[in-house]
Amino acid sequence: MKLMILNGPNLNLLGIREPDHYGKETYADLLHKIKTYCDEKGIDTDFYQSNHEGDLVDAIHRAYFEQFDGIVINPGAYTHTSIALLDAVKSTSLPTVEVHISKVEEREDFRQVSYIRAACIATITGLGTDGYLRGVDALIAHAKEAS
Ligand code: DQA
Repeated sequence: MKLMILNGPNLNLLGIREPDHYGKETYADLLHKIKTYCDEKGIDTDFYQSNHEGDLVDAIHRAYFEQFDGIVINPGAYTHTSIALLDAVKSTSLPTVEVHISKVEEREDFRQVSYIRAACIATITGLGTDGYLRGVDALIAHAKEAS
């Protein structure tokens, strides 16, 4: 199994940005945590972070062309604005899990909209960086159901 782990804008600043919302772990800590978890399960991973919407669209397309089995994505603020990311996931039909470190449903009104959610098999919020691991679990369960 091969999974793409995507992070959107400002997630490269984890550990620096608003630790009350996003915790003190850095982006490097996050990658290490996910890679360790996936390595133990024999899952290959590819990580990509961008502050640019189109780059994230390209990464979703790459996951399709390179035959990844699924995507875990934290689209950051593009969650709340991007129809392009929604369309990219829909275009590829790759099983995709939406992850948010913070509990977005308890935050500002503008964070209550998620465009990408409609194309995702699951959404995980408010579990800190463990949410990414639960995203991996959801993709494993989905793959088992499909086989
Ligand atoms: C976030 C929540 C978004 O509203 C915000 O714009 C982010 C991070 C989260 O992980 O909780 O950048 O996706």
